[in-house]
Amino acid sequence: DKGNYRHFMLKEIYEQPEVIGHTLGSFVDLTTGKTRLPASASIDFSSVKRMALSACGTGFYAALVGRYYFERYARIACDLDVASEFRYRESPLEDVDLALFVSQSGETADTLASLRHAKAEGLQTAAIVNVDESTIARETDHVLPTLAGPEIGVASTKAFTCQLMALAALSIRAGVARGRISEAQEMEFTKTLQETPRLVNEALHLEDQIDQLSREMATKKHALFLGRGFSYPLALEGALKLKEISYIHAEGYAAGELKHGPIALIDDTMPVVVIAPHDRSFEKTASNVQEVAARGGDIILLTDRKGAEAKVVDEAHTIVMPRMPEILTPIVYSIPLQLLAYHTAVQMGTDVDQPRNLAKSVTVE
Ligand code: F6R
Repeated sequence: DKGNYRHFMLKEIYEQPEVIGHTLGSFVDLTTGKTRLPASASIDFSSVKRMALSACGTGFYAALVGRYYFERYARIACDLDVASEFRYRESPLEDVDLALFVSQSGETADTLASLRHAKAEGLQTAAIVNVDESTIARETDHVLPTLAGPEIGVASTKAFTCQLMALAALSIRAGVARGRISEAQEMEFTKTLQETPRLVNEALHLEDQIDQLSREMATKKHALFLGRGFSYPLALEGALKLKEISYIHAEGYAAGELKHGPIALIDDTMPVVVIAPHDRSFEKTASNVQEVAARGGDIILLTDRKGAEAKVVDEAHTIVMPRMPEILTPIVYSIPLQLLAYHTAVQMGTDVDQPRNLAKSVTVE
C-alpha cells in the first residue's frame, strides 16, 4: 500500500528516518551506547585482519562505503568485488578472515554464487540482508539483518541507507574489538550514529528545492556525478539511481579522475552533480568543481553551510545540507540523490517503481 504517496519509491524514501533507526538498534544497545551484534551473528572481529566484500548494484556501492569504513575505523584491509567477478578473479583467499556479502533480497544469483564459493574455499561468511528468510540468509554463517522492511520500488533506497547504517555500526564494533577504538570513542560514535534519523529528516525537507532542479535535469541527455573519499561511492550510486529510473545516461566518477578523461565531456549542456560535504577532501573536490565551472558545466553542488560559505564557484545550484560528522555523510547525502532521481523520473513520466528491463531480484547470473 502506497498510502498517500504517489509511488512506492517516494514512500520508501520517507520511511528512512524510521527504518535506519530500527537497523541501528540491532547494532547498538541504545541504553548503554555500546555496539553489539544481532543474535543471528557471532563474529569475533578481534581476529579479523582482512575481509573480502562482495555484492551487486546498489549493494556493491554500499559495500564500497563499507570498505572505507572498515579500513578507516577498524584498520581491516578490505578486498572488494562485484559478485559477478568475485569467483572468477582467482584471488588468493588464504589471508581473508571473513567474507561479507550485501544483498537486499538475499536472492541475487551472483551474490549467492559468491557466498557458496567463499564457503567452498573454507571462509567464514557473513551477510547483510534485508529479507531474513532468503537463501543468502539461510546459507551464510552470520546474518546481519537490515530492518528496512519490504522494499517494493525496484530502485533501492531505504535498503541502501540501512545497509550503510549496518556497515557503519559494524565497523565501529570491529574497531573496538581490534583495540583501535577506545570505549570513550565508541560512545562518541554511537551517539553520532543516533543522530542519523534526525539528519535524514532534515535532508528530506530539501525535497521542494530538489524538485525544482529536477525540471532542468529532465531536459538533459547525460549527467556526471563526482565525489571523493566517502562521497565517491555516492557519486556511483547517484548516477545509478538516475539512470535506472529516468533513463538519462549518467556516470559516477571519483572527483580526482575528472581530469583523466571525463572532463572532455564538459560543456554547457552537461550537468555535474558534486557531492562535497566540508570534510577532509573538500578543498580538493572544490578545485575539481572550478575546473567544471571553467568549461561551462552546469553544477549542482551538494554541500553544507561551511562548504557553501567557501564560495567555490560563482554559479552553482547549491543544496545546503546539515553539518554532520564524516561517518554520517554517506547515509544522509543519499537522500538528495534519491530525490533528484525520483523527481527527474517523475518529470519525464517514466514508470518510477517498475523501470523497463529491470527486476527487483535478479536470480539469473
Ligand atoms: C539498484 C538496484 C540493484 C540491486 C542489485 C542487487 O537500485 O536495486 O542494483 O541493488 O540488483 O540486489 P540485492 O541487493 O537484492 O542483492
